[in-house]
Order: sequence, then C-alpha cells, then structure tokens
Amino acid sequence: MLVCSCNYITDKDIKAVINELLDEDCWQLIVPGKVYHAMGKRGRCCGCFPNVVDLIIKTTAEYHAARKTEETKVVNFMERLKLFHEEQKVALAERRQAMVAARRVG
Ligand code: FES
Repeated sequence: MLVCSCNYITDKDIKAVINELLDEDCWQLIVPGKVYHAMGKRGRCCGCFPNVVDLIIKTTAEYHAARKTEETKVVNFMERLKLFHEEQKVALAERRQAMVAARRVG
C-alpha cells in the first residue's frame, strides 16, 4: 500500500527500514524523519507522517512481540513512544493550522 505519494514509498518499504533501525538499537526513538533519512528521502508535504507514526508504533510492537522482549520494558517503552508521537501529531497539526491561517492573511 502506498503511504507516501510524494516519494512513492509503500508500507512494506517503511516497515523494512523500521526493522533495520530496531536491529541496530531496539530501544531507539524512531520518528518519520529518521525513517525517511535512512531511505535517502525526506518529507515534502509531510501529510503521510501520521500514517508513518502509526506504522512505527505497530512495527515496534510486532518487533518486540516476535523477540519476546521482557514485557515490562516493552510496555514502558511503548507507552513513552505513543506519548511522544501523540505530542508530535499535535505539534504537526498546529503547524499546519498556522500555515493555513498565514496563507489566508497573506
Ligand atoms: S505524502 Fe509523504 S511527504 Fe508528502
């Protein structure tokens, strides 16, 4: 499924990169910019980022489930990861609203 129409990136491409990053360090903080940088791409309209965030959370949960990582560590990490990404989604939505408002004024 195509996730990023600006860069023609599919969900499989994104999941593969997330798993590679997790293989390097399974506790690192993965954000859309890091995933795109690893692919030699960058966000343009960034409209895909909320979907990329969902893929990061889902893929990270699947990664730890498959490796039977100690459950208390995973639960704490996933809670922090979800909280961080929720804050990022809110910040992105606020930036977009500010851009739309600026265009209306200008
Ligand atoms: S849809 Fe991904 S950067 Fe525009």
